[in-house]
Amino acid sequence: MSNLVIRQMKEQDFADADRINRIAFGTFFGLETPSAFRGDGEVVAGRFAANPDGTFVAEIDGTLVACGFVMDWGSLGLLGPLTVAVDAWGRGIGRAMLDEMTRFMDSRKFALQGLFTHPQSPTHIRLYEAYGFRMKRITAVMERAVKADGEMPAEVRCFSDLPSSEKPAVLRECRRIAESVYGGLDLGGEILSIDRAGFGDTILLGQESAMTGFACCHQGRGSEAGSPQTVVKFAAVRSAANASSEFEKLMTACEVFAALRGTNRLVAGTNTGRTECYEAMLDMGFRSWMNGIAMLKTAGGDGNDGYNVPGVFSVDDWR
Ligand SMILES: CC(C)(COP(=O)(O)OP(=O)(O)OC[C@H]1O[C@@H](n2cnc3c(N)ncnc32)[C@H](O)[C@@H]1OP(=O)(O)O)[C@@H](O)C(=O)NCCC(=O)NCCS
Repeated sequence: MSNLVIRQMKEQDFADADRINRIAFGTFFGLETPSAFRGDGEVVAGRFAANPDGTFVAEIDGTLVACGFVMDWGSLGLLGPLTVAVDAWGRGIGRAMLDEMTRFMDSRKFALQGLFTHPQSPTHIRLYEAYGFRMKRITAVMERAVKADGEMPAEVRCFSDLPSSEKPAVLRECRRIAESVYGGLDLGGEILSIDRAGFGDTILLGQESAMTGFACCHQGRGSEAGSPQTVVKFAAVRSAANASSEFEKLMTACEVFAALRGTNRLVAGTNTGRTECYEAMLDMGFRSWMNGIAMLKTAGGDGNDGYNVPGVFSVDDWR
């Protein structure tokens, strides 16, 4: 396609990119009104704000036909979502986008690259396999009904309540916690973008230098969750002997946060390779409502599983 141009996204592209993204997923999932996909939730502006370099679009003769995102979580680069305008499916635009996006990811030298896709779709799997990603374990995106009368565990703070002078030290602590889960993992960009946009909040477990965990929660119009629910984008507790009990406290805090925001559904997913974490979530009453498969690509090509391994207590949403 000689007139196809792949370039970085600009703010002027937001409306078209948002429409392409909703209709592509709404069509894939068979919605009666595909454009209603994700309700008043959004991904385009938020992902652009968090990682402007990692946002791509395709255009043909000045018309936007695809958009795609790369999230930068330090040593982990996440690909997606990638969407192509429905009337242009099957013409090689997805592959052209992936050529550019995977070139960008390789140039950033992430130790680990990952994505979440539909395990029931061999064409999706083949597409990503062509770029070096390999199927690993299922990620269970789980949900739990929110109890309205829960109590916030002691020693919980919200990032948005901190004075700005304290935020850098807390970001360093969050980085240390993430590092204990996987070397170089850094959620700083996500925490700051939630804070700047008011798309929910980051819940902090434990005081100052004794922090044991954190959870980046999306909630509200314009966030990835939308108004009716709270979505845990990432949560982790420090790898330590008490990780299991701290994880339970952190999930309880997420539930209380969800209730305080007036939502009755909490969504949190974990990769089933994190065996104890998955069991702990089942014990806490979370139940799977959507399965995706984690596909991974490692810098050294050694096929390691990153932090999708036993002993890690972490929730994350790579959708
Ligand atoms: C998946 C998607 C990005 C592919 O884009 P595309 O421009 O149609 O892809 P291409 O024309 O470059 O084709 C690439 C491969 O995808 C396959 N493909 C095309 N349309 C597809 C569809 N609707 N569903 C699944 N696979 C599809 C092609 O057959 C091709 O596979 P092959 O090389 O084994 O023959 C696009 O169909 C889309 O936006 N789907 C809905 C959103 C989605 O699922 N995004 C990915 C989330 S992980």
